[in-house]
Amino acid sequence: MIGFEVFGRIAIKFGTPAFVYEEEKIRHQARSLKQGIDYEPKKILYAVKANFNPSILKILKEEGLGIDAVSPGEIALALKVGLTSEDILFTGNNITDEEMDFAVEKGVLLNIDSLSRLEKFGKNYPRQQICVRINPDIGAGHHNHCITGGPISKFGIWYSEVEKIKSIAKSYQLEIIGIHQHIGSQILEADTFLLAMEAILKVAPNFPDLKFIDFGGGFGVSYKPEEKPLNIEELGGKISKRFINFCSECGKKLTLVIEPGRYLVAEAGYLLTRVNTVKKNSDGRVFVGIDSGFNHLIRPAMYGSYHEIINISHPTGGKESVDIVGNLCESGDRFAEQREINEPREGDLVLIKNAGAYGYAMSSNYNLRPRPPEILIKTGGELQIIRKKEALEDLISD
Ligand code: LLP
Repeated sequence: MIGFEVFGRIAIKFGTPAFVYEEEKIRHQARSLKQGIDYEPKKILYAVKANFNPSILKILKEEGLGIDAVSPGEIALALKVGLTSEDILFTGNNITDEEMDFAVEKGVLLNIDSLSRLEKFGKNYPRQQICVRINPDIGAGHHNHCITGGPISKFGIWYSEVEKIKSIAKSYQLEIIGIHQHIGSQILEADTFLLAMEAILKVAPNFPDLKFIDFGGGFGVSYKPEEKPLNIEELGGKISKRFINFCSECGKKLTLVIEPGRYLVAEAGYLLTRVNTVKKNSDGRVFVGIDSGFNHLIRPAMYGSYHEIINISHPTGGKESVDIVGNLCESGDRFAEQREINEPREGDLVLIKNAGAYGYAMSSNYNLRPRPPEILIKTGGELQIIRKKEALEDLISD
């Protein structure tokens, strides 16, 4: 991890709060996936929803990754930073005709999420190539909101509807060159991923024109210091081995696709904040108020997610159990409850870790507060502003 003094310098130079990212860590994560899954040919599509900063996309592009896009905006951004349409898969959910047309116009392959969209696509674009998203009746993830497979998930075409998929595809001479699944987010057990892999491999032989199978993202990271990290070499080895066997059974060397988001960027990111207020209520509960809130990092408030928090100004201070709260007018604006932290004092810098994924990307202007800047610590140590702090004037202008 980057030394505390670097964050001190960032706070002086750019102020707080600020999102800070480590280029080297992003590259390291990308390389660990490329090496861990040694099967070839493979494609790693970055799920850009995790962090859509253009500079981060460029780093991952340099590492040879493509893009998993879920909206026209994400497609446009990927193309703008220099990715080609072949590098992008559009996995839209409940998309409009206009969004479908946009993707086709840009030459981007669509990953179709429902039978009705398949029908509409076929009517408008017969004889085209497509991918279909399958719901394999298996879901996993760190919170109900993040489970994307199984009967209560809105995603994909139910796995037993294969005959209907085939018949629609036949009517419009669509070529199904890919099948896809994504069962959920923040998966730390290799077996869960492998189980889901089996489910889609069972469906795959129905589609003779397949060129690739996309097993989705969901690769977890350890948010809690004691959490066992995903062993990517072990999982990657198993994924590769199983896929080699599958391809040799079906007599065709398919491309293996995965689409991680969090794994690539979560641990590379920090939310750097400062303590504004320390106060105690009547029964001794201590509130440490920082200059950020769930308008910047919503994961604790939205999912009850744990993020490690460090008082970098007083790392040797005695441990105290406190609530770390934000500056929004909501009681749920809490980053941590009854958390042990080195004695926090007003003015201290407090670092919230693992904020690189679904941090800035899910931020808002709630309470009419501007979003913080995004700062990149480049390989070599140079600091670069990769997105400016929002200006209050912009927020209040008509
Ligand atoms: N592919 C598809 C189709 C997805 O829906 C997602 C995430 C991913 C890939 C990437 O998943 P990852 O590798 O990042 O787990 N806001 C939540 C996470 C929502 C994920 C939504 N879909 C959070 O902060 O935990």
